[in-house]
Amino acid sequence: MDNFYTLILAAGLGKRMKSKHPKVLHKVCERPMVEWVVRSAKEAGAKDVVVVLGHGAEEVKSALGDSVKYAYQEKQLGTGHAVMASKDLLPDTGNIMILTGDTPLIMPETLKKFYNFHLKEQNSITVLSSFFDVPDGYGRIVRDVNGNVLKIIEDKDADEAIKGIHEINSGMYIFNSDYLKKSLQYINNNNAQGEYYLTDAVEIVIRLGGKVGAYSAPNEEIMGVNTRVQLQEAEKAMRRRINKRLMLDGVTIIDPDNTYIGPDVVIGMDTIIYPGTRIEGKTSIGEDCEIGPNSYIIDSEIGNGCRIIFSMITESKLYNNIKLGPFAQIRPESVIHNNAKLGNFIEIKKSVIGEGTKVPHLTYIGDAEVGKRVNMGCGSIVVNYDGKKKHKTIIGDDVFVGCNVNLVSPVKINNNAFIAAGSTITDEVPDGALAIARCRQTNKEGWVEERRKKGGL
Ligand code: UD1
Ligand code: CA
Repeated sequence: MDNFYTLILAAGLGKRMKSKHPKVLHKVCERPMVEWVVRSAKEAGAKDVVVVLGHGAEEVKSALGDSVKYAYQEKQLGTGHAVMASKDLLPDTGNIMILTGDTPLIMPETLKKFYNFHLKEQNSITVLSSFFDVPDGYGRIVRDVNGNVLKIIEDKDADEAIKGIHEINSGMYIFNSDYLKKSLQYINNNNAQGEYYLTDAVEIVIRLGGKVGAYSAPNEEIMGVNTRVQLQEAEKAMRRRINKRLMLDGVTIIDPDNTYIGPDVVIGMDTIIYPGTRIEGKTSIGEDCEIGPNSYIIDSEIGNGCRIIFSMITESKLYNNIKLGPFAQIRPESVIHNNAKLGNFIEIKKSVIGEGTKVPHLTYIGDAEVGKRVNMGCGSIVVNYDGKKKHKTIIGDDVFVGCNVNLVSPVKINNNAFIAAGSTITDEVPDGALAIARCRQTNKEGWVEERRKKGGL
């Protein structure tokens, strides 16, 4: 299959979104809508992609970067006008696929079939159409008695008979580039909206002796997003696709309607995802894990056999068989080694936790290296911040940190050391030593009785 040029129309403001940002940058499952369209086009075999910009041009450009070329349409005078604005960037020969930036659900497989159909039929224009029970708002495909496409009539220009047609124009086309360039000369704005309609090219090309056909695509894929209600519908449809793909690859998702997984996430076989879980960005999760309910994982790498309950993990790496939560937070740049157990109400930030180490409850560890088989007692805290700067703490292997201990950074606890409960440690603790850093207890016998007699209690 030879490849084709693609033009994506994205200059419109998208008034009905009621937004400060251009419509095509609103996201569906983490990606701006127009990026989904660009990716589908490229996956389908697009050679060069040109995006037509207008409203919010700089914003769109910085989102898409140099993965595509750009054309500018200063005033938005209609879809035909948008194509005229990009004329200089289009090739003189071959085929040009025209897509819109607000149809994120269009699939590469459909575009491939669409293109193959266009080639097979040797059309000058192939329109991507679809059949809608309620076609309101869309341009209608008008055919003759033999089923040949004659023209497209916009909803706003349609009479009752035309409005009764259920075959609609998706706004996506493949043009033979010669016919596209020729037809642009004849498109005018003599219609209900006073716009230059690209759809008029159909009639013009037929008049010029070209051949026009239509290829029908599933409703869902051609759905355009004009409002935030439709944005949410598109998000739901995309989410369903992502979850379905994962389930077919061996991941159990208990409630796909309530599980939010990004398009770049990788999950291994026999992992179970419980409801209320959101997994974003470049995250990978191994096999045999149980994630959730209600966990939030962003840009992290998680090994096999991990159990994560009601917890949040950001930009961190967890090796295998780690138990986390409920209610734990792992903040960026943390590395948790095999078999560690991190329990409830703990926070770990930019720290390494060694193999088999236990941090069962109510602990903060920040800017620290914690060795293997360490026990961090309940309420132990790494005091990493002096009000101005962060400092580092190092804890060796097999260390026992008692409850309610403060380790004031920078400080080092050597292997096998034992820190008594309630200690505030400011100095290095030698290998195998017991460190106690708190006042000795004094008991005053009979103190309560005496105080009562004096009326003090
Ligand atoms: C268009 C089609 C209609 C089709 C519908 C499908 C025309 C005349 N009509 O109508 O037949 O059923 O799409 O959704 O083409 N754009 C520009 N510059 C402009 C105008 C629009 O870049 O001057 C872009 C928009 O950003 C958008 C796309 O073109 O991505 C479609 O424009 P829109 O105004 O939404 O066209 P519709 O009225 O929906
Ligand atoms: Ca539209």
